[in-house]
Amino acid sequence: MSSEPVAVAAMTRVQQAVVESVAPHLRHNPYDSYRILRAAGPFVPGPHGTHLVTRHAEAQAILTDSRWSHAEEPQLLHGDSDVELPGSFLWMEPPDHTRLRGLVGKAFTARTVSGLRERAAQLVDQLLAEILAEREVDLLEALAYPVPLTLICEMLGVPEEAHAQVRAMSAGIARGLDPDVLLSAEELAARTAAVHEFTAFFGDLVEQRRRDPRPDLITALVQAEEAGVRLTHTELIGTLLILVVAGHETSVNLIGNGVLALIREPAEFQRLRADPDLAGVAVDEVLRYDAPVHLTTRTARAEITVGERTFVPGDAVIVLLGSANRDPEAFSGADRFDLSRYLPGRETERHLSFGLGLHYCLGAPLARMEMRTILHALGTRVTELSLLAEPPYRPNVVVRGMSELRVRVEGR
Ligand code: HEM
Repeated sequence: MSSEPVAVAAMTRVQQAVVESVAPHLRHNPYDSYRILRAAGPFVPGPHGTHLVTRHAEAQAILTDSRWSHAEEPQLLHGDSDVELPGSFLWMEPPDHTRLRGLVGKAFTARTVSGLRERAAQLVDQLLAEILAEREVDLLEALAYPVPLTLICEMLGVPEEAHAQVRAMSAGIARGLDPDVLLSAEELAARTAAVHEFTAFFGDLVEQRRRDPRPDLITALVQAEEAGVRLTHTELIGTLLILVVAGHETSVNLIGNGVLALIREPAEFQRLRADPDLAGVAVDEVLRYDAPVHLTTRTARAEITVGERTFVPGDAVIVLLGSANRDPEAFSGADRFDLSRYLPGRETERHLSFGLGLHYCLGAPLARMEMRTILHALGTRVTELSLLAEPPYRPNVVVRGMSELRVRVEGR
């Protein structure tokens, strides 16, 4: 018997896993597809001539090698669309990347963010009191959205009455971060509308701060713009867009995924209750176990060899962060949720949920602080957590997460 039918069958299974790893009806569990992809090799053919990077070692090598560019991503992902997302430094290379990231960097250092701890704790306490009074809630609405949305809006200086509008605009943009080929005509239209609305809304706010400066991040950016030709108006709006969208859409999923994992693994929740100070290291395990951002892309700017494969300039890769985080070569018991995995002294690889290298997440200290505050409060005050319904997922691929998380919460 020829070996060909076997090869074809094997190929089909891998191709099916490629399709299923982004399928809307399987968003609750892309991990089975990732397992098949990792087993097929470190690089698997993806859509439009791309290569999917399935394992931790190769993903890490690519993210930390500056010969791989992120500047082509909007073209790669949004080549056919008629609207451009305003340029943000997420999709730039030095020197523009350095200039723009430098302007907002100070606001997000661990030190600056620790100054927001008290406000975060107060917000979490208040929301948790409301949840405990109500007992049965959609935890995304009751906690996961309000905490990061309120904090990023307050940092920027968005008035409270506009927070809901900001949330609606960024939801439209977040789905639009997915590759265009996965979006329906309505979703593409919704993204265009959301980007126009965002540009108009923040354009107005920028003008207000120009006339009436306040101690907020928008004013700081306006002053940088005025101090020299350090950033154009489009760059200013693009910077605000990435801060707003990356600043809460991702954190919402971190919070939701973390609560879901604690419900599914009651023994880990009991460990957190017994020792709420585990919250700090638990944040990293939630990030690893169920990544809020599932993929990023890079394009080769030179001939680059990664492992056994050589790429030529122009080759595009899709780095599957969510798969790298479950690679058994990098993590023992990779599919196990283990709150103490990142305790000092334990041997383990770092997760790739915040990316790595030049574009390493600027907001990581803020996201970590928010989640640590929430986990600590849950460990201290909540005695019982259970699911009221299996949670539905949004179709989003890049920024993956639930659309609702109905839970019952008991505590004091
Ligand atoms: C970059 C994930 C929260 C702002 C990134 C990247 C990832 C990521 C994976 C790198 C993308 C790449 O290399 O292609 C996350 C996750 C978060 C989170 C999982 C929460 C759980 C935040 C927050 C902010 C933020 C709270 C800001 C307020 C940014 C910015 C970049 C970035 C500005 C671009 C950095 C650069 O290009 O230099 N994030 N993020 N993120 N993130 Fe986050």
